[in-house]
Amino acid sequence: MEAGKTFLEMTRDRWSVRKFKQEQISEEHMARILEAGRNAPSACNYQPQRVLVLQSDEAIAQVRSVTHWAFNAPTVLLVCANLTESWKNVDGCDSADVDAAIALDHMMMEAWECGVGSTWVRGFDERVMRQAFNLPPTWKVVAMMPMGYPAETAHPSTWHFARKSNEELYRFV
Ligand SMILES: Cc1cc2nc3c(=O)[nH]c(=O)nc-3n(C[C@H](O)[C@H](O)[C@H](O)COP(=O)(O)O)c2cc1C
Repeated sequence: MEAGKTFLEMTRDRWSVRKFKQEQISEEHMARILEAGRNAPSACNYQPQRVLVLQSDEAIAQVRSVTHWAFNAPTVLLVCANLTESWKNVDGCDSADVDAAIALDHMMMEAWECGVGSTWVRGFDERVMRQAFNLPPTWKVVAMMPMGYPAETAHPSTWHFARKSNEELYRFV
């Protein structure tokens, strides 16, 4: 995590951080991260993403009671999509998940640029999460993102280093 890196370099360097310092994310960094999510593209620009920023002792205790994948992060984003606002294609495709996912990815990369580590997490039961935070029935929980400044002892998992080849991933036609 160093300032002045290109976007490509950041995509190479970023890894999922699962152990955090207890220091809260600064207001400046938080504002930058949330702005990146607001700048994300969405189908028809409908912007259905809705994000709960969990930081209070009560909210953090609550999310940790739902899943152990919140780790010891001082902030957890709960990223939802409002299904009444997402674009629906004639073939039945609903852009809700994709729109929320793009916003989350923007926030993850901006966090990294700020020196804030994070992990994309879907290891929770949506029904339990929905109940824990009393979410409106029209909101789908897409993912959560525990985040904070990485602990000195945090390190990438072995999964991080396994990347498929261009041949497996891409086909020029
Ligand atoms: C949709 C999705 C769900 C994920 N769920 C979890 C999770 O529940 N717990 C976890 O520790 N990591 C989770 N991850 C993180 C991945 O394990 C991680 O991104 C992947 O192993 C690559 O490692 P890296 O991010 O360090 O490069 C998830 C990632 C994605 C994109």
